[in-house]
Amino acid sequence: MKVCMVGTGYIGLVSGACFAEIGHEVVCVDNDTQKINMLNKGEIPIFEPGLGEMVKKNVRAGRLSFTTDIRKGIEQSLFIFIAVGTPPKASGEADLSGIEHVATEIGTAMVEYRIIVEKSTVPVLTGRRLRTMIEKSCTRDIEFDVASNPEFLREGAAVNEFLCPDRIVLGVESKKAEQRLLELYKPINAPKIVTDIASAELIKLTSNAFLSTKISFINAVSVLCEKTGADIVKVAEGMGMDKRIGRAFLNAGVGYGGSCFPKDLKAFISMSSELGYDFRLLKEVERINEDQMLRVVKKAEESLQYLRGRTIGILGLAFKPNTDDMRDAPSITVIKALQKAGAVVKAYDPAAIERAKKMMKGIDYCRDLYETADGVDAIILVTEWDEFKQMDLERVRRTMRKPVFIDGRNVFEPKKMKDLGFIYCGIGR
Ligand SMILES: NC(=O)c1ccc[n+]([C@@H]2O[C@H](COP(=O)([O-])OP(=O)(O)OC[C@H]3O[C@@H](n4cnc5c(N)ncnc54)[C@H](O)[C@@H]3O)[C@@H](O)[C@H]2O)c1
Repeated sequence: MKVCMVGTGYIGLVSGACFAEIGHEVVCVDNDTQKINMLNKGEIPIFEPGLGEMVKKNVRAGRLSFTTDIRKGIEQSLFIFIAVGTPPKASGEADLSGIEHVATEIGTAMVEYRIIVEKSTVPVLTGRRLRTMIEKSCTRDIEFDVASNPEFLREGAAVNEFLCPDRIVLGVESKKAEQRLLELYKPINAPKIVTDIASAELIKLTSNAFLSTKISFINAVSVLCEKTGADIVKVAEGMGMDKRIGRAFLNAGVGYGGSCFPKDLKAFISMSSELGYDFRLLKEVERINEDQMLRVVKKAEESLQYLRGRTIGILGLAFKPNTDDMRDAPSITVIKALQKAGAVVKAYDPAAIERAKKMMKGIDYCRDLYETADGVDAIILVTEWDEFKQMDLERVRRTMRKPVFIDGRNVFEPKKMKDLGFIYCGIGR
């Protein structure tokens, strides 16, 4: 089947490559000429395990191509997926200008039946808006369907999660769109839930809001653990054994970040308020998360008495391991707070340094973790890359000026770290 993916970012590129991988003919469109030129030269603009090989393989097979010409994509494809960004406005509300722009282009270029699918994360009832906008810009009377197919994949494991998802959500307004979408996804063996468009839009928003809530819940409990001597890892393990609760997303740490949770939660709160409901529960989830990022800075300050003039080594800049995505990464909040308190910051990340350099100045970016540890008064581990889990701890401790280790992801065992001579602080243990 023929697919046009408008927006070739993290989601568009992964989805486009995976649709090609399962046998469809895909054209990925982006208005960023530099990105499309890179892709046409065989260069992958993002770090995502397995993606490069998959893109190259499908380009060679003639199933995947890249263009800046949206008309071409619309003309040749039955499905037009919209996967452009939906960043937050200053008010927190989702900025839908990218989607609106694409809707107008679709309306103008469409000459026969098309299924226009929201892949981007959008507020509930955007599907309805999309239909109106396409109708307005369409000069002829052409039948089309709007559908919602939210994406749940996680960066760092995106390819695998697209091809083996927990579920595929299809929000449709006609039997025809349902049948075609089910056919498109037929090669993927996963439960498929078909709903109306508004429910599909809400499934995505509520899933992210709920996962953020789980993280803030366990982070709040970690404060109680620190006050009582209980161990958050054991508490989470014991809670998670209850099937109604589940162990996933109960890891206390420096808080959630990334391109989705913070922005989607803000948009959800704003959307609820517009609909006349004050979602105070989620406002608190946000507040707990903001506090949590600063708690590691407080721990460093308590261990060192003061931060002014101290050198702090940051391990991990990306918002999570196996990605170079720096959007709303907790490391940014942590580093800004350290710099504000007068600390000197050294930092290392296996994949995100180039992106971080564009966003944060005044940092001594290092080539590896050992260079980062050299001469510092404290280390704060922010992102749990495997490379850090396997570090030579004795070597690290020997090169540090003071052996303060703030483990923002509870990667190490407190007893082992203390036995090695570290002044060790985890989260909630
Ligand atoms: N990144 C994730 O893990 C993830 C997961 C699920 C859902 N989402 C959602 O998917 C959407 C896209 O996210 P992303 O992370 O891929 O963003 P991104 O910024 O990486 O990609 C968006 C792409 O769209 C392009 N674009 C913008 N306007 C365009 C236009 N008018 N025509 C053509 N291309 C245009 C941009 O140049 C960019 O390449 C967002 O709504 C996001 O919330 C993201």
